Amino acid sequence: MKRNLGSTDIEVFPIGLGAMPLGIRGTLPLQDAIDVIHSAVEAGISFIDTANVYCTDNQDIGLNERTIAQALGSIDSSGIIVATKGGLVRPQGRWERRGSPQHLRSACEKSLQDLSVEAITLYQLHAPDPLVPFSDSVGELARLQSEGKILHVGLSNVGQDLLDEAMDITTIVSVQNRCNIYHSVDLKSGFVDYCRQNSITYIAYSPMGGGGRYTELRDEAVLSELAASHESTVYQVTLAWLLKKGDNILPIPGAGRISSAVSSAHAVHVDLSADEVRRIDGIGAP
Ligand SMILES: NC(=O)c1ccc[n+]([C@@H]2O[C@H](COP(=O)([O-])OP(=O)(O)OC[C@H]3O[C@@H](n4cnc5c(N)ncnc54)[C@H](OP(=O)(O)O)[C@@H]3O)[C@@H](O)[C@H]2O)c1
Repeated sequence: MKRNLGSTDIEVFPIGLGAMPLGIRGTLPLQDAIDVIHSAVEAGISFIDTANVYCTDNQDIGLNERTIAQALGSIDSSGIIVATKGGLVRPQGRWERRGSPQHLRSACEKSLQDLSVEAITLYQLHAPDPLVPFSDSVGELARLQSEGKILHVGLSNVGQDLLDEAMDITTIVSVQNRCNIYHSVDLKSGFVDYCRQNSITYIAYSPMGGGGRYTELRDEAVLSELAASHESTVYQVTLAWLLKKGDNILPIPGAGRISSAVSSAHAVHVDLSADEVRRIDGIGAP
């Protein structure tokens, strides 16, 4: 049932935890966030996605990473992979790109401290910075990797051209892009399959449509019908659909509540037929 992380021998549960909702809202008590992480791990989840910027602004960079480190520090966390990212900043709560080698190096070194680890298993470039040559950003990640601070390099918010450029510099094990029933361009263009051909895990972010849209899934008649016939929820059916769209896809649903994390983990048991998958494909069709 598990899925390999890119070309590595690391195996992870097919559905990860997107930890962003535990950090950016700024109102969730620390113990509640820790409880969500513990429940996700108990339900089988072994891949946690975070970023240094999952916080409210530049003053609390690393908040989400420190929460995860604290949560994992109090349980047996062997086999749990934490993937983080660098390349953005949060002035006054805005999201801005910073892809210079100097910034990436200092961000990575702070993430090592905040995660309390000697090496980051998967470090992802959060987004290309139009003001910095992409090869300079990826080149710095490759240097951090050669120094042992990063074990594996991933990219986020990229297309095939940038992926090709990065693959000429170092081994890329993952690409993390938005992918859900409303935004399935990477499925339709063949990019997800291109990643698979290159032994790259495609990490599907905002798989429910994103923090602002996820409730819309409840209004999709096809999803509701399939949820009823599979004794599941529209959210679980959505994740089951993504898992069927490629064996290199790793959806990372966000969760601010225990019930969301646990229910998402149980979506691995929802087995959709090819016909059901085609019906869901039709939801996002123009
Ligand atoms: N690389 C990037 O640029 C980028 C951008 C955006 C997100 N991400 C990553 O992707 C992750 C997921 O994206 P997202 O958080 O934006 O959106 P999402 O996963 O599409 O939706 C998140 C919301 O859906 C609800 N939900 C999730 N699973 C559910 C379930 N099984 N049943 C009922 N409700 C459920 C959660 O509500 P509750 O909060 O109430 O539990 C959660 O806040 C993030 O956490 C982050 O790690 C990456």
